[in-house]
Amino acid sequence: MSASLATVSYLGAAILFILCLGGLSNQETARRGNFYGMLGMTIAVLATVFGPRVAALGLPWIIAAMIVGGAIGFYLARVVKMTQMPELVAFMHSLVGLAACLVGFASYVDTSIAYTGAEKAIHEIEIYVGILIGAVTFSGSVIAFGKLSGKIGGKPLLLPGRHLVNLVGLLVVIWFGYAFLQAETVQAGMTPLIVMTVIALLFGIHMVMAIGGADMPVVVSMLNSYSGWAAAATGFMLSNDLLIVTGALVGSSGAILSYIMCNAMNRNFLSVIAGGFGSDGGAPKAAGGGAAQPAGEVSPILAGETAELLREAKSVIIVPGYGMAVAQAQHTVFEITRLLRAKGVNVRFAIHPVAGRMPGHMNVLLAEAKVPYDIVMEMDEINDDFPQTDVVMVIGANDIVNPAAQEDPASPIAGMPVLEVWNARTTIVMKRSMASGYAGVDNPLFYKDNNRMLFGDAKKMLDEVLGALKA
Ligand code: TAP
Repeated sequence: MSASLATVSYLGAAILFILCLGGLSNQETARRGNFYGMLGMTIAVLATVFGPRVAALGLPWIIAAMIVGGAIGFYLARVVKMTQMPELVAFMHSLVGLAACLVGFASYVDTSIAYTGAEKAIHEIEIYVGILIGAVTFSGSVIAFGKLSGKIGGKPLLLPGRHLVNLVGLLVVIWFGYAFLQAETVQAGMTPLIVMTVIALLFGIHMVMAIGGADMPVVVSMLNSYSGWAAAATGFMLSNDLLIVTGALVGSSGAILSYIMCNAMNRNFLSVIAGGFGSDGGAPKAAGGGAAQPAGEVSPILAGETAELLREAKSVIIVPGYGMAVAQAQHTVFEITRLLRAKGVNVRFAIHPVAGRMPGHMNVLLAEAKVPYDIVMEMDEINDDFPQTDVVMVIGANDIVNPAAQEDPASPIAGMPVLEVWNARTTIVMKRSMASGYAGVDNPLFYKDNNRMLFGDAKKMLDEVLGALKA
């Protein structure tokens, strides 16, 4: 393939990636967005592999690596459960970081292009910064994978004087960066490069170990952003324009997603980007830890009575959460929705930005069950409508409907925006027990006078409700 055809292909791929991101911002266009992304990536890979910069001699190696890598990716994509997606994403980020490190070291030892003067300095800065970002992304993502998959405990590890440790690490990295740029030979530059890599790896581990389970979603999207910047740095090292553009797109969209999630979870964006959470490390507390304990009795309800309430209601809002994903109850939820809508009940869905375990988790499940998009509302669109709502069905959700976020300044989730379901005439919370949610805090909603608890597995209970509605 000629150089100009490769450049045109890269341009086309870059445009397709931008269209992909645009499409993914809305569930109605997400499928098309995905298609643009896949097409763009196919063009990018073909233009690179058959482009002017790959020698024919290396082609069999690249194709063999693609077959092995593609087979592993295909297998993982088939076996991964929806609830395991965040850990798979963290694992993939670690690979991007590792690739940036390996490309950095390979570019440094590759003496086939002789850089001199300012060009040499720029190339070496690209290598140093690329390996730095790559190593932080790699080790941070490995720890995030360990925490999300439960292989490492979710409790934050808070070393004494950890901010000082980070600061000293940063100063040492800058000092060795200076030594690296001064080095006359590859051998002389290798020591500062390796020392910096080890410090960056330790920093990545330290940064994510210090973060509690409740803050992990923000960390995953932040690492997503870091992996983008690591890819962009790799693009600079390889003088590959498309990798720079793609890395910058991933880096900036990851940063925007982190910002949105920080708002949704009431976290400070800048302190997340710097990897330094408040002194409590965003730690999830034990149930009710430090916060006022909700008091009173809970009022259970049966599936038949739930069906009765739904049948009499004019407006119903369904709030899905992590439990709906675990129970795989989305198809039954849709059946119930269809039945109620056929009877003239106004049924809508309220989606919290961090419901479930990954961004867009609930939207994906509802789309899979073919729930129409126009009745699926974001939190800001629907939060004012609860006072005019007859029945709210909370299906396997907990933290995202916890009034303590607004009412109890001592609560670990104080300030987190939540769905104000308690303003409805009646709320029905479906879950298996009185256990707390992801953040580990008790929920005063359960004890409110207008709340009923429908205990049991969400799928099983909804099947019973559906049966009673049909009867
Ligand atoms: P959670 O607060 O985790 O609550 C889920 C509830 O579902 C639990 O209290 C559990 O109670 C219930 N449940 C579990 N399995 C069930 C089943 N089979 N049937 C019925 N109920 C079941 O979920 P949420 O309200 O969706 O809030 C999300 C939380 O996860 C937030 O704290 C958020 O910060 C965090 N988080 C979010 C993300 C993203 S990006 N969305 C990623 C990681 C973490 P029982 O055990 O009593 O049944």
